[in-house]
Amino acid sequence: MTDDLASLEAETVAALSAAGDLRAWDAIRVGVLGKSGRLTLLLKALGALAPEARRARGEALNVLRDRLAAAIEARRLALEADALAARLAGERIDITLPPPPATEGLIHPISRAMEEIVAIFGAMGFTVAEGPDIETDWHNFGALNIPAHHPARADLDTFYLPPAEADGAPLVLRTHTSPVQVRSMLSAPPPIRVIVPGRTYRADHDATHSPMFHQCEGLVIGQGITLGHLKGCLIDFLRAFFALPDLPVRFRSSYFPFTEPSMEVDIGWDRKSGEIGGGKDWLEILGSGMVHPKVLANCGIDPREWQGFAFGMGIERVAMLKHGITDLRPFYESDLRWLRHYGSNPLAPAMLHEGL
Ligand code: DAH
Repeated sequence: MTDDLASLEAETVAALSAAGDLRAWDAIRVGVLGKSGRLTLLLKALGALAPEARRARGEALNVLRDRLAAAIEARRLALEADALAARLAGERIDITLPPPPATEGLIHPISRAMEEIVAIFGAMGFTVAEGPDIETDWHNFGALNIPAHHPARADLDTFYLPPAEADGAPLVLRTHTSPVQVRSMLSAPPPIRVIVPGRTYRADHDATHSPMFHQCEGLVIGQGITLGHLKGCLIDFLRAFFALPDLPVRFRSSYFPFTEPSMEVDIGWDRKSGEIGGGKDWLEILGSGMVHPKVLANCGIDPREWQGFAFGMGIERVAMLKHGITDLRPFYESDLRWLRHYGSNPLAPAMLHEGL
């Protein structure tokens, strides 16, 4: 190799190793192999040589071109690997750090209460079931032992929709999550253990009622299920949800068409201060009972073989009590100040072992 070729190679190799990034690298590549690059110009100059000299010089230039092309390519790969390593080092996160406080995007207190309810019942082996917001009259009322003209229908301020079926029965916006009891029993044989968080609707609107609100239903069907199971399950739930291990819980006999016997469940609180668990007053928190044999039969389950209990609670109500919220309306007003105050960190999901 002649001196000029040797120095071209040496200079190019030195420049390549000095190039710190792909931009510097590209300038070197163009300066050597580009249209007016040093090697390209030498190749172009071959034409002016005598045939003998041209062959020898041509061979040397081709060898050099291959070597330089290989060195340039090798440097590109090395620079790319360096750039990737630097980026990965910059993007490294320590997944053992606790989540940062959320500054944007918070979980709405209704969603949060649902997550907590699901976490607690999930730990007791319940799965989540869902049903449609638009229900048939039969699922919402009939199958639940609330026949037409039953007085319970009048209490419910139902939104009726035009009938979809030839039988002329109206559709309704479900007035409670209880129709999903019926759907759960019809869709799979017992044993059943489900909770049903979801939207419900009643034509009612004031400081403590919204035409759209949320409930969570629960249903357990099994063999040998007793009132004792119902009580144990709901006491455990309420104490976990309100994070009060000694929360007083009272079962008061009541009436629902779909349970027999039926019970209203109250928790202890102080009416004056609003403190949950303290004082001598009682606050009604949910409805419950042993599933009525007629409801089991309506859903194709033999009441002589299977028993169960059910319960239903208002999600807004338990969220309001837990967080000391006194007005229902801001739940649906999307006021960012309210949401920032009552919202929860989305990076700290509801987990029982960390406390709720
Ligand atoms: N569906 C009732 C309501 O909306 C609540 C309820 C009471 C649900 C007793 C139940 C139950 O499953 O057993 O007021």
